[in-house]
Amino acid sequence: MSLGEVGGLPGGGCNRLALTDADRDGRDLVVSWMRDLDMEVNIDAVGNVIGTWHVGSGAAVMTGSHIDTVRTGGLYDGNYGVLAGLAVVETCQRHGITPARPLSVGIFTDEEGARFAPDMLGSLVYAGGMSVEDAHDVIGIDGARLGDELKRIGYLGPTPCPGAVPHAFVELHIEQGPLLEVNSVRIGAVTGVQGISWQHVTIDGQSNHAGTTPMHLRKDPAFAAASLTVFLRQLAQRFGGNQVCTVGKIDVHPNLTNVVPSRVSLTLDVRNTDENLLKKAEREIEEFCSRLADEEHVTITRRSLARFEPVVFDDRIVSMVEELAKDRGNSVQRMPSGAGHDAQMLSRMCPTGMIFVPSHKGLSHNVNEHTDRDDLVAGANLLLDVMLKLAETTF
Ligand code: GLV
Ligand code: MN
Ligand code: MN
Repeated sequence: MSLGEVGGLPGGGCNRLALTDADRDGRDLVVSWMRDLDMEVNIDAVGNVIGTWHVGSGAAVMTGSHIDTVRTGGLYDGNYGVLAGLAVVETCQRHGITPARPLSVGIFTDEEGARFAPDMLGSLVYAGGMSVEDAHDVIGIDGARLGDELKRIGYLGPTPCPGAVPHAFVELHIEQGPLLEVNSVRIGAVTGVQGISWQHVTIDGQSNHAGTTPMHLRKDPAFAAASLTVFLRQLAQRFGGNQVCTVGKIDVHPNLTNVVPSRVSLTLDVRNTDENLLKKAEREIEEFCSRLADEEHVTITRRSLARFEPVVFDDRIVSMVEELAKDRGNSVQRMPSGAGHDAQMLSRMCPTGMIFVPSHKGLSHNVNEHTDRDDLVAGANLLLDVMLKLAETTF
């Protein structure tokens, strides 16, 4: 709740877009809590904060998530996983529990990708999937350069990337969808994360007078953007299954009532658990755009903002989550994740898994995001059990 006040919105929810002043203030607060627990705090070249409690020996068992939010975010997405990680460390220290390995808690930079694409940028760089230089050169939706913003808020750290390889990684997160609540199940043992394709589409037409330009002479990018949006909805309906498509950001220029716009840019967020279907969706979008450009006499330029294949988590950890959840009397089901997570990047480095708890009404990326206290506690206790078990497990 204290972290939620940083960047808190009137009426609830949170706005801590990555590398803004609010993100810095949130980081400062959580880092102070890491220090209160005598954790060593390392900040790396993309601003990932890794807090480590030095105990036991060997590579650390790592947990963590993110504390950046979308512009109208809730209090739990990401934040819950980071703070539960600190609660695990605090609980061990209070009760004299000595894990067999060090425990690390990561705050990964720019998981949301809402300001700087791609999403999961910090964990991607941590895992060696993107260079520090490329990450620093990413330009945000407000024109800011990521490297400059890191420096400005004091989180351009000295620790190199890729980061230290953990013994294992487990991330606790709210589900952000409706399934656990609908099924009255408390714990999700996450089997993997669906593939994701983000594109930025720019449609150029011709600005003209709304009253005098006959319909057949128009080169109207707003109409083309609307057609593309409808096409995406129909594609998702046609494909069925796990296919989802979203147009979440539209910018119109000059954005005036009586002017046929000259340019519209929009973003596409397309996801599927099946890589072949995701590729098929991308091909169909490409073909539709080229037809649309011909028919509407507009120019359509597309640029990839993010592209990640589906990820399958380590079955030994999925089973461990299931078993330990049951041991504490929780109901549990296996499920894939619809949202992207830092764990999907860490899975490139080490055995990885995730734990979900229910989201009230399936709401997330929404100021009314909520998870019941009992569910939050159950998830954190399970995280404790899983981290201790991982510390003793040889992979
Ligand atoms: C990250 O929150 C995503 O867009 O899945
Ligand atoms: Mn998240
Ligand atoms: Mn999110």
